[in-house]
Amino acid sequence: MKILVFSPGYVGKKIVTGLQNAGHDIESIKVEITDLNAVHAALDASHPDAVLNGAGRRGIPNVDWCETNQISTMRSNTIGALILAQACFEKNIHMVHLGTGCVFYGESPDPAGWKESDHANPQAVYSRTKYAADLILTELPNVAIVRFRMPIDSEPTPENLINKLVKYPKIIDVRNSVTVLDDLVTAVVGIIEKRGVGVFHAVNPGVMAHRDLMKLYTELVDPNHISDWITADALVSTGLAKRIRSNNIMQNIRLRELGIELRPIDIALRDVMEKYARAVHSV
Ligand SMILES: NC(=O)c1ccc[n+]([C@@H]2O[C@H](COP(=O)([O-])OP(=O)(O)OC[C@H]3O[C@@H](n4cnc5c(N)ncnc54)[C@H](OP(=O)(O)O)[C@@H]3O)[C@@H](O)[C@H]2O)c1
Repeated sequence: MKILVFSPGYVGKKIVTGLQNAGHDIESIKVEITDLNAVHAALDASHPDAVLNGAGRRGIPNVDWCETNQISTMRSNTIGALILAQACFEKNIHMVHLGTGCVFYGESPDPAGWKESDHANPQAVYSRTKYAADLILTELPNVAIVRFRMPIDSEPTPENLINKLVKYPKIIDVRNSVTVLDDLVTAVVGIIEKRGVGVFHAVNPGVMAHRDLMKLYTELVDPNHISDWITADALVSTGLAKRIRSNNIMQNIRLRELGIELRPIDIALRDVMEKYARAVHSV
């Protein structure tokens, strides 16, 4: 398939590699996604079978950036996503949009976790702009929204959850649904190939405590590393973050319905940490 990828960044580039490995013909483009004419021109020039929206604002160095850059965040995460989806709808092109599981905060109505069909309860600016897009995009018959969170990767980079937790002076002692990036790639490739639409939760089955990740880190990467722990509430009250972070557990029902199975988190986490350790120790 010919797939046009808009603005691949950290996550988009990983997916591009996965799509190429799966034999697809990829074109990457950097076009302002709030510009409908520019988006139409890009689609006319490329004639893709599918589009991946890799663009978005997640906040650099972290999501607190979005709290004081509301307009930029809204333009990229909400308006741009809708404009891109409009252009794809008008040309009957399947579009995969990168959403986030951080639209859910805390306990889910179903003790097994938040479902794709649940209404979310976003709090931070970033989460609100992402969920605002989701609410409209779910009304379009040509769009898949792939929600993932806290990406874990074998490559040591600042965006990797492993690097983040190792660097933090204090780590919140919480349990979450998380996404190993190799599994996100599996999910997105499968959704594009099967032309899946609607919301998909691309989280690894099972729950990961930050303590599980750090335990594996000391076992496989650095036995001398010591972590300091705090509660989730203390993150804001001690000034380490501007706004409470999303912590949650999600179910991935719809991926399974589409015939896409992700690895359980304990297996995927050990695999990715072994690869991470090899990358760190080979430097
Ligand atoms: N990374 C995560 O932890 C995570 C977790 C869950 C969901 N997501 C979602 O995944 C998507 C990609 O995240 P990422 O981590 O790959 O981000 P990234 O590395 O910052 O890449 C995003 C890319 O989008 C571009 N962009 C931003 N606004 C744009 C606009 N209006 N028009 C065109 N291009 C624009 C950026 O360009 P510039 O470089 O010029 O700014 C950048 O190249 C986002 O939608 C994010 O919400 C990310």
